[in-house]
Amino acid sequence: MERIAVLDFGGQYNQLIARRVREAGVFSELLPHSAPLDRIRGEGLNGIIFTGGPDSVYEENAKTCLEGVFSLGVPILGICYGMQYIAKVFGGSIAASPIKEYGKTPVETSDHPLLEGLDAGYVWMNHNDSVTQMPAGFTSVAHTENCPFAAFANDEKRLYGIQFHAEVAHTPKGELIFKNFLKNICNCACAYSPGALSDTLLSDIRAQVGSGRVLGALSGGVDSSVAAVLVHRAIGDRLTCIFVDHGLLRQNEAEEVLSYYRNNLKLNVIAVDASERFLKKLEGVSEPEQKRKIIGAEFIRVFEEEAKKLGGADYLLQGTIYPDIIESGTSGSATIKSHHNVGGLPKDIGFKGLVEPLRMLFKDEVRALGEHLGMPKELVWRQPFPGPGLAIRIIGDITKDKLEILRKSDYIFREEIRLANLDRAIWQYFTVFTGLRSVGVMGDLRTYDYAIGVRAVTSTDAMTVEWAEIPYGVLRRISERIIAEVPHVNRVVYDITSKPPGTIEWE
Ligand code: XMP
Repeated sequence: MERIAVLDFGGQYNQLIARRVREAGVFSELLPHSAPLDRIRGEGLNGIIFTGGPDSVYEENAKTCLEGVFSLGVPILGICYGMQYIAKVFGGSIAASPIKEYGKTPVETSDHPLLEGLDAGYVWMNHNDSVTQMPAGFTSVAHTENCPFAAFANDEKRLYGIQFHAEVAHTPKGELIFKNFLKNICNCACAYSPGALSDTLLSDIRAQVGSGRVLGALSGGVDSSVAAVLVHRAIGDRLTCIFVDHGLLRQNEAEEVLSYYRNNLKLNVIAVDASERFLKKLEGVSEPEQKRKIIGAEFIRVFEEEAKKLGGADYLLQGTIYPDIIESGTSGSATIKSHHNVGGLPKDIGFKGLVEPLRMLFKDEVRALGEHLGMPKELVWRQPFPGPGLAIRIIGDITKDKLEILRKSDYIFREEIRLANLDRAIWQYFTVFTGLRSVGVMGDLRTYDYAIGVRAVTSTDAMTVEWAEIPYGVLRRISERIIAEVPHVNRVVYDITSKPPGTIEWE
């Protein structure tokens, strides 16, 4: 697969750059500016993009990449800070511009393969510094009134820079810069699309699995579902899936997802109702990490038992996606939460290996792939749901009564979000059983009942999130309905904490 590495120098639009490249037809991934060369080279590399960033290149701790990046033999395009950094490395000068440029700025472009089709127009600028003297061997290929080097090129070394932000929608035809860089400069075929991707993944799966059997753990989430559909398409009924109901699922969840799996997707799924044994193990446990560990361990036990009953399998299917790899790769960072996921399954169940067809993709691409595979929209667009389920949304110990209150309130919240057409705009939305009791008055009588927390966040990758600004009218309806319809709830609070400093789940 053709691939572009986008090196992250800290700018605001970096994910957008990686995305624009993929939209232009080449797989791309965002890597830290200091990523090791092997990681940048990956399984194939056609070009590199340096993003913008907040630093000034001459600052003491200004971000840099490894020197070897310039010897990888592929073209490099620097955007804003990325351009200034290239200029500095090759002996040019950079200074604070006497007149700063922000926003829509008229530009004149020269005839160059990077700028093909980009006749004089506007670009979106957002910078303090700019290149004041180009390094030897570079030519200016675009200028604005106050920026003589709005774009430069060194065709011999295959180094390019643009001072403006082609990735934002405010640069008309900005997408052409990416197309030109990929086609005219990196010589890419630009064939990446959900269709082409699906074909590549299917043949990769067939090549890996051969005539073997695959066992897949389905969680009901988007990633494991798309992964299972792909593998099913590749090897048919040599895939067997296991869906474990640990008793911590949302209202109607097990029935709904099993119906999709069996009736719509025709997957061979074994459903295991393990709710009683999970709830028993969790009895009286209120410490969040302990809950997570118990659930993780019990899940493995159930899975092992089921795998044994089936007489084993050659491969284990996991719905791992790219952000999972980034997170697990950050060794040395503090454990905030022990994420339970399929990755925790023991390798000694006797598998020859793992099948992880989605390991290079981001969530939105997994969804696009799911849609391409004809999966039901309701399944493809489900919000992420954590492996430990409602256990980490109940503060304190877990009881069936508390689960009931949480399920009912969560169902109402989800229904109202859907009715308000906000379900695609919000990354995750759910209620939390706070465990807190407070005094209220209902029907002229004193109540002393539970407070339910309402949590809704926007995000692109769950690494950082903003709390969602749900309209007051919708919040009002949610609060009124929860209190009216859910027994033992007399108060609803809205969580207005972003991440960081908060996290999405309360435990
Ligand atoms: P936090 O709460 O850490 O969550 O901000 C980030 C994202 O991860 C989900 N999450 C989990 N997913 N197993 C999972 O499969 C887990 O143990 C787990 N804990 C949190 C959470 O719902 C959010 O999408």
